[in-house]
Parts: sequence; structure tokens; C-alpha cells
Amino acid sequence: MPVFTDAVSTSVKVLSGLLAIACITLCWLFYPPIYPRNIPTIPFWVTLLPFFYDVDQEETFKRYIRKPLLKHGAVKFFFGGQWNILVQRSTYLAEIFKNEEVYQKSGNDKKLPHSVIAEYLGDNIISSRGNDYRTYRTVIKPGLQENFDPEPIIQNAQKLYSLLRQLRTDGKSAEPNIQDVLQRYSITNILTCLLNSDLSLLDDNNADLNKLQRQVKKEIFKPIFLSFPFLDRLGWLFPSRQRSRETIHAFAQELQRVVCAGHEEDSYWMASEKLGSRLFAARESGIMTHKQFRDNLNVVFVAGQENPQLAMLSALYLLGKYPDVQAKLRYEVDMCLDGDLSPVVLGKLPFLSSVIYESLRLFPPISQLVNRRVDRPVNLGDKIYIPRDTYVGYNSYATNRDPSVWGLTADEFMPERWGTNNEDILKRFRRAKARAEFISFHGGSRACLGERFALLEMRITLFILVKNCTWTLDPHWPDRMTPAGPLYPRELRLVFDHRQG
Ligand code: HEM
Repeated sequence: MPVFTDAVSTSVKVLSGLLAIACITLCWLFYPPIYPRNIPTIPFWVTLLPFFYDVDQEETFKRYIRKPLLKHGAVKFFFGGQWNILVQRSTYLAEIFKNEEVYQKSGNDKKLPHSVIAEYLGDNIISSRGNDYRTYRTVIKPGLQENFDPEPIIQNAQKLYSLLRQLRTDGKSAEPNIQDVLQRYSITNILTCLLNSDLSLLDDNNADLNKLQRQVKKEIFKPIFLSFPFLDRLGWLFPSRQRSRETIHAFAQELQRVVCAGHEEDSYWMASEKLGSRLFAARESGIMTHKQFRDNLNVVFVAGQENPQLAMLSALYLLGKYPDVQAKLRYEVDMCLDGDLSPVVLGKLPFLSSVIYESLRLFPPISQLVNRRVDRPVNLGDKIYIPRDTYVGYNSYATNRDPSVWGLTADEFMPERWGTNNEDILKRFRRAKARAEFISFHGGSRACLGERFALLEMRITLFILVKNCTWTLDPHWPDRMTPAGPLYPRELRLVFDHRQG
């Protein structure tokens, strides 16, 4: 009898313990404990919606996030297994971008060192700070600020055009899809222009690097693991996560093989200022460890091909959806002398610049990012008290569409809003960046270092496509956005037509 009583009492204790843990977890999820009380909380389950339903994140944003975010300029947001402050208001963001010492960069390698996403990009120029950051910047920045030779991009863009033309579908679904072709194009541009490799994925649909990059992307943006990254510790329960790690390892190996091959065989790279050569030399001379080399190579490759790829995809989507804008752009393009692309390279076509800025405004490739930790308690905008060690992020999709800055037409695609001549357009672009009203390229001292390259690539690509073909949205394509991760048109389908004459 006493043995039976002991067993019952132990079971009751275990059950009570589990119940208490469940209650505390639920309270913590529903009522974030230490966070500022004067900004609203987005319910934690909003981030989990894509796990249960086939959602369009533009709809999710409009339904659950936009109103509180615009009203207060910041909200409490559950992501990465913790509560964060997600900021939208430009004045707050300008303060954050200026105050690097307080709002310190802290990437996934610090926040979630055990996670699959941390294994992917490690410690790199985008997420590091202090001495490591200075070393990475010294090596990488000159490789991104050179005057790029536009010729390889022009040649690649011609090939892109031929590939897209083959997708002509007469209204039926197009295979292989546009995003895949754009990925091969943007990878080829990075490899040939920055990384000293002569591998062209435009001629080879089956290159391992492309396949592995596609596979990694599928693994990374799984909402349940993004929201609860502690699950990545449970490899025994989720064997697929172990496979994700193996895919990431294979991807990094293949990228190094492709980039290093040219450098190991040849010595001309020693005199080269190209990014690939600079990274390779930093590893050879011991300025970077092998791990630092691997992580930074991964990140410049991923940022350098993924962001322009999404930017071009969204621009093609918008131009397909708004044929009048496409026609106006074509008029400007047709005015240029054939064969002379110097005004394009120099950014001297005003409507082309406006179209690019406007599509980057509406669909920033990095639509949301949480990668800063406050080093000490701080009062953001003298209003929002943020305790030490809290993670802070931004939502550029919301900032770029703020009606108090961009007016009641903030959600509309109106390239004319940037101005009518090169000077005004550039001024507006620079001012919007400096005031953190347009944050697609971030801002302040940690602004994107690849902006120049990305804009050049976009200008040449759109010029060549608009010159050679017209396109519309495939009428069978349901106009919808991705469910989670970066926000862009999901499995976009377009119908291309070759221009005669
Ligand atoms: C349309 C294309 C692009 C967009 C929208 C974009 C956007 C951004 C953003 C938002 C950041 C800041 C991230 C943060 O908050 O931590 C960033 C940083 C960075 N980007 Fe880009 N990027 C683009 C293209 C590129 C390209 C082509 C490269 C290089 C090949 C590149 C290299 C970098 C680097 C190295 C940083 C880190 C800068 C620093 O912290 O000093 N980006 N980019």
C-alpha cells in the first residue's frame, strides 16, 4: 500500500511540474514578461500561421501587424524562440543606425549558436562587430567598391533573355520557373564579376552549386524551426535537420571548390583586387582563419546573389502587372543609341532608376531582420524603454510603405514619385536613405556594401529585357506572395513575348 501511495504521489508531482512548466511557457508566450508596456504585442501564433495554413505573408502583415506597427512605430514580436522589438518608424530607425555602440550587431551565431541557420552563415561581415568586423570590412569592402566591368553582366543578361524567352508559355504554366533562371543568372554574375570564377550556370542547369543553394534555401526558411530554433538541438527527433546540416556543409564545400579552383591553379589573382582574390589572400596570409574565410565567402555569395535575384524578380513582377509602366520604360530604353550602354551603366536613365528604386521600396529583398542586441538599457525615441540584452530588428516592408512619409499612395507602384530628372531622383533616393525612410539597403555605417553592384546589375538586366521583349503576368498565376521568410512573389509566372524588329 505505501509503495502504491508513493507511486501516486510521484506521478502527481511530475504532472504538477509539467503543468507548471506548460503554464509558465504559455504565460511567457501570451504575455512577454520584461518588455516595454507602452507598445503592443503581436500574438506569438502569427509567426506560426504558415506552419498550419497556406498563407500569403502580405495578407498576414495587413491583417495582424500593420496597424499596431504603424500606430506605435514598434511592436513586441516573437521570433527565433524569443521576444524581440520590431521597429518600423524612421526616426527610431535613424537613431538605431546611428548608435552602433548601443544597438550592437549580433547575428545568429551569437543568438542561436546551435541552430541550422547559424551553421549556414556563421560569423560574418554582416552580423559581426568590433575587431572581427573591422578585419572583414578591410578585406571585403575594396572588392565591392571597385568600378565593375559591365561587359560580363551585359553578356549574361543576353543569355538570361534567351532563357526567359524559352519560357514563353502562351498562358500555360512555365517550367523551369523564372526564379530558378534568375538564381542561375545572379549566381553567374557574382561568380564572374566578383569571385574570379568562370563557371556559368546559364549554360548548365545541373551545376551542383545551384542545386545545393536551392536545397539550402528550402531547408532554412521552415517557419517552425525559425520560430523555435531550440528544436534544432533535437537532431535525434528531427533527422531532417541533420540532413540540413549536411546540405549546408556540402554547399560550403562546393562554393569553396568553385572559387578556390581558379586561384589555386593560377597566380594572376595575386595582383587582382577582386573580392574572391582578396578573400583567398586573407586566408592564405592568416588574416582570416579558415572558418572566417568560409563564413564570409558564404555570406557574400548568398547576399550577393539572393538579394539582387529577389529584387529583379519583384521588378519583373511589378512591370508585368503594370504594362503602362513597362511601356513607358520601353519608350525611354528605345531612345538610347543601340550598342551604347554607357548611360545605363552610369545610371543616367531617369525612369529606369525610378522603376528600380520604386520596386525596391515596395519589395525590399530583406523584408525583415532581427540582428541587433541592446548592450545597455535604452529609451528609444525617449519613449520606448528597452531592457539590456533585448533583441531589436526592423521591418523594411512596413517602413518603406509608411503613409506618413510616402503619402496615401504608399502601397502603389508609382515610379514617378521619385522625380523626373536624374538629379532630383538621386537626391530623393539619398535623402530617403539618410532619413531611414527607405531602408532596403539599411543605412548608416552598416549600410549595404553591395548596393553599387546590385544597382548596376539591375539597370543592365532591365534594360536588356525591356529592349528585347514584353511580358505580362501569366493569367493562370494566382497573384500571391511567399508564406514566410523574405517577402516576394511566390512561384511567379510570366508570359514573355519577343519584340519584332
Ligand atoms: C538589391 C540588392 C541588395 C539589397 C536590397 C541588400 C540589402 C542589404 C541590407 C538590408 C543590409 C544590412 C543587413 C543588416 O541589417 O544586418 C546589407 C548589408 C550588406 N550587404 Fe547587401 N544588399 C543587396 C546586394 C548586395 C550585394 C550584391 C552584395 C555583395 C556582393 C552585398 C553585400 C553586403 C554586405 C557585405 C553587407 C554588410 C555591410 C556591413 O555591415 O558593413 N549586398 N545589404
